[in-house]
Amino acid sequence: MAQIEWTEEFSVGNASIDQEHEALIAHINQIYEQLSRPMDTEVIESMLEELQSDISAHFAVEELLMHEAGYAELDAHREDHEHLLDQVHDLIFHFTEDPDNGKELLINRLSDWFSNHFKSFDARLHDQLG
Ligand SMILES: [Fe+2]
Ligand SMILES: [Fe+2]
Repeated sequence: MAQIEWTEEFSVGNASIDQEHEALIAHINQIYEQLSRPMDTEVIESMLEELQSDISAHFAVEELLMHEAGYAELDAHREDHEHLLDQVHDLIFHFTEDPDNGKELLINRLSDWFSNHFKSFDARLHDQLG
C-alpha cells in the first residue's frame, strides 16, 4: 500500500497549513489502511466524502492565504487544486459505481496525486505565506 509519509520537505513554514497537510496525509493513510481490509464500501465511501470536504476546505484556506500574500503563482496553484478536486470527485464516482475497480484506482492514484501536489505547488509556498 502506497502510504504517504510526512517529511520535512512537505513543510511550507506556516504552522496551520503544515498541520492541515499532516491531517490530510493521516486521513489518506487511514483510507489506504481501510482499503487493505475486507471491503466495506459504506465505510470507504464515507471516508472519501469526508476527505473530499476536508480537502476542499483546506484548498480554500490555502488560496485565501496565497491571495492575502499576493502570491504570484496563485492562478496556476488554484487550477491544480481544481484539477485534484475533479479527480477526487471522479474517484468517488467510480468507487460508488464499481467498488472493485474503483478500489484499484484509489490504491494506484490517491497518494501519488497528493504527494505530487505537496512536493511541487505546495512546496513552492515555502516562506511565501508569512
Ligand atoms: Fe495547494
Ligand atoms: Fe495544501
